[in-house]
Amino acid sequence: MRISGKIVGQALVEIRARIKPGVATQEIDKFAYEFFKKNDCVPAFLGYHGYPATICTSINDEVVHGIPGKRVLEEGDIVGVDIGAYYKGYCGDSARTFSVGKVDKNIEKLLEVTFESLNKGIDQCRIGNRVSDIGNAVQKYVESNGFYVVRDYVGHGIGQAMHEDPQVPNYGRPHQGPRIVEGMCLALEPMVNMGTEEVKVLQDGWTVVTKDGKFSAHFEDTIAILANGPENLTRVN
Ligand code: MF3
Ligand code: CO
Repeated sequence: MRISGKIVGQALVEIRARIKPGVATQEIDKFAYEFFKKNDCVPAFLGYHGYPATICTSINDEVVHGIPGKRVLEEGDIVGVDIGAYYKGYCGDSARTFSVGKVDKNIEKLLEVTFESLNKGIDQCRIGNRVSDIGNAVQKYVESNGFYVVRDYVGHGIGQAMHEDPQVPNYGRPHQGPRIVEGMCLALEPMVNMGTEEVKVLQDGWTVVTKDGKFSAHFEDTIAILANGPENLTRVN
């Protein structure tokens, strides 16, 4: 999982350098597919419940699971890139939301708060805590900054499958649910909205958007719980 995590993290670094106005999301998808092939990885999303691409690209009011296509990134957009792969049967899963050129100040803040809420969650990935301590920390940080945590989609355990137990919500009361134990691997993935937490799925059956059309951000890392604390498997820089 260290290896798959590192490759997935490196893919996001490479992708970040390719995000600019005029780029179509399908070009980024193609890059990711080739990158995984070159690194002996199997894309985790492609074919998952029929999902048609290697990555998810979610622009502006799209929360998660946007399908790459001909849509071209424009100055002022934000784009969430979610990416996962197996290396020798072990899965890494990570996401970042990038700004395209210069974005509004309040949207910059959305990106910063969402990333920092992920870090607050990671801080809770310690033996003896419970899974809901993660969501509680994420929710408190997000709401104290005036934003909203999506309820309808959650993080997850991860290992030889991309989605394993337990579910890892980004909200909730502290000290509830399964205990966090040594050797567990969890994918934490806060989805944070500017306006309302409410979301809906578009006609394509995949793309999740905010109900109010305001912007949304998503950051994800795969975390291993070790005796000496959390190890972030997908953060390479
Ligand atoms: N990274 C997403 C997750 O954490 C998976 C994307 S859904 C897929 O659950 F269908 F595209 F695979
Ligand atoms: Co995930």
